[in-house]
Amino acid sequence: IEARDRREEWLDCARENRNAAGLDDEIAIVEADAREAALDADCVVTNLPFGVRVDEDLRDLYAAFADRLVEGSVDRAVALTTKPEFLPLEPVERYDIPYGRLDAAIVVYEPWG
Ligand SMILES: C[S@@+](CC[C@H](N)C(=O)[O-])C[C@H]1O[C@@H](n2cnc3c(N)ncnc32)[C@H](O)[C@@H]1O
Repeated sequence: IEARDRREEWLDCARENRNAAGLDDEIAIVEADAREAALDADCVVTNLPFGVRVDEDLRDLYAAFADRLVEGSVDRAVALTTKPEFLPLEPVERYDIPYGRLDAAIVVYEPWG
C-alpha cells in the first residue's frame, strides 16, 4: 500500500498514525502531487480536497487527477468528495452521504470498465 499527499505536515501525521498502528512495513507514505504523479495500482482510494486549505483550483486538480487515473493502470478508484461533478468520469456507483455538516458522496470509477 502506498499513501500519498502533497504536504509534508500531513505526511508526518499519516506516518505517526501508521507507526502507532504497527503498519510501517505494510504502508509507504510518500510525497506526490495528484495532478502529476503516475498511478499504477489495482485500486485507488482517495479523500479528495473539498476546497478548504487548498491554494489551487479544484476543477483543475480533479481534471488532472482524472487524467492520471485514465492513463494509469488502475482497475478501480473510490473517491470521497463534496464535488463529484468536478470529476470528468462516469461513476459506476455513487453513495450520497452526510460528512459532518457537508453533503458528500462516495463515487466509484472503473476507468477501464
Ligand atoms: C480532504 S483532505 C484528506 C486528508 C487525508 N488523506 C484523509 O483521508 O484524512 C485532502 C488532502 O489532499 C491533499 N492535497 C491537496 N492538493 C493535492 C495535490 N495536488 N496532490 C496531492 N495531495 C493534495 C491535502 O494536502 C489534504 O491533505
